[in-house]
Amino acid sequence: MKKKWWHDKVAYQIYPKSFMDTNGDGIGDLRGIINKLDYLKDLGVDIIWLSPIYCSPFVDQGYDISDYYNIDPRFGTMEDMDELLAEAKKRNMYVLMDLVVNHCSDKHEWFQKALQDPDGEYGQYFYIREGKGDQPPCNWRSYFGGSAWERIPGTNKYYLHMFAKEQPDLNWENEKLRNEIYKMINWWLDKGLAGFRIDAIINIKKDLRFEDFPPDREDGLCSPGKMLEHAKGIGVFLKEMRDKTFRKYDAFTVAELFNYKEDELRDYIGEDGYFSSIFDFSTHLIGASEKGWFDRKPVTPNEYRDVIFRSKIETENIGFMSNIIENHDEPRGVSYYIPEGECNEKSKKMLATLQLMLKGIPFIYQGQEIGMTNNEFESIDEIDDISTKDEYLVALKAGYSPEEALKIVSKYSRDNARTPFHWDTSQNAGFTTGKPWLVVNKNYKDINVESQINDENSVLSYYKKLICLRKDEEYKETIVYGKFSPVYEEYDNILAFYRKGEDKTLLIIANYQDKKVELPLLHQNSKVLINNYDRLNVENETIILEPYQTVVLDV
Ligand code: GLC
Ligand code: CA
Repeated sequence: MKKKWWHDKVAYQIYPKSFMDTNGDGIGDLRGIINKLDYLKDLGVDIIWLSPIYCSPFVDQGYDISDYYNIDPRFGTMEDMDELLAEAKKRNMYVLMDLVVNHCSDKHEWFQKALQDPDGEYGQYFYIREGKGDQPPCNWRSYFGGSAWERIPGTNKYYLHMFAKEQPDLNWENEKLRNEIYKMINWWLDKGLAGFRIDAIINIKKDLRFEDFPPDREDGLCSPGKMLEHAKGIGVFLKEMRDKTFRKYDAFTVAELFNYKEDELRDYIGEDGYFSSIFDFSTHLIGASEKGWFDRKPVTPNEYRDVIFRSKIETENIGFMSNIIENHDEPRGVSYYIPEGECNEKSKKMLATLQLMLKGIPFIYQGQEIGMTNNEFESIDEIDDISTKDEYLVALKAGYSPEEALKIVSKYSRDNARTPFHWDTSQNAGFTTGKPWLVVNKNYKDINVESQINDENSVLSYYKKLICLRKDEEYKETIVYGKFSPVYEEYDNILAFYRKGEDKTLLIIANYQDKKVELPLLHQNSKVLINNYDRLNVENETIILEPYQTVVLDV
């Protein structure tokens, strides 16, 4: 595999709105990020990905962009952005922005012009179609609920929005539009960005017949995924985008890509792939249901192992996935993947070890490194997220009481990850001196940077140790490029694998359960590099692992 500059990097996702507020308006800002760069550097982070900071009405928290060339004043100014780029560079750090080009905001100039003249030049920037009688052109459901079509006032024409109605989909079939997008990407790369995280990109190719599919819920609509199954030929767009932008800059790109077909993996992330990497969402899809969140099944350790191992084997000789535990669209991983009552420092460290020792580029989501957990929302009014609000209604419709529906959505809500970052024990967790835009998790006095940074047994210090090991000259090659092979597969709730490099072999064993387990000893005299307990018990020919005990051994 040809080596690339990003293969050995550790990345960190910042959700700017909730990271650090410096002017007391309750909203995190670029100045806050600049002030915390040393904290990230000290953690071992090389690449930071910023969720959208472009001008936006914030219907979907910045994923509805009204001006791609400017910074939303809530976050600061373009000067602040330039300063951030310069300060990152000084520290040998790389900055990625979010590239949201499946759709823009309905307040974007292009869409405003399209509304005025749907048949004109800018109408062609979107998908605008005649209604069927007094109904939308077809029965596709948007990701956030309801029809994916919205009527243009005073006409019988509708525009397509796969997400919220304030996020009209851009018409990638139109070359003019595509060139506008490439121009914008290059403009940012010229500024010194190292690349992009690419939002919802699989959606840019539509099934242009715009026809009904069999409904899959009582609303008579079909899930957006159905349309994607029938949309062919996305590769032409992706290849063109890569060649006209990223490739020229050797930029790093990581795509948010659900619903790809297995035999296409090489096209996406192979040596000549459209992207440098894609996120590994395999564990996030476990238990999901077409019906809605109320029907989701909890994740079991064996399922977690099976999907993640399968994904590593599939990609082994193809390319690099990006490994995550959570992001801004997911609940907190430690609350989601660890059974209730068992979420503690040991289990948090177990998940961390897996993420950092599996093959791929680790993306740590802000707060994950201190073990932040889900929030207990007390009322639906505390929730801001558009998709949580929709799922709340879906649960009510399915017959759950408001209390039950709140409990259901609290478990999966994207707002769990979006509550403000916990810096210290002062008011509002040190995030803001004002009123935070979203509730602060009540457990901030127990879980925060201040109380962990000097404690060598803390979750934060453990993340640092893992990152140090990844960067250790002796082990780096093995952790980055070493071959993955599973072991102890016949044992329930054990996730164990080798990473075999040119001159080192590591064995990682995680006891993913709240009870002790004995395993046959496979290697004499191995060296313990990482351990989330003080010691590792080896007796005769067995290793005895404590609940959630996880070790990295040099064998
Ligand atoms: C992606 C983003 C998510 C957003 C959606 C629409 O999935 O990660 O936050 O709501 O795209 O842009
Ligand atoms: Ca602010």
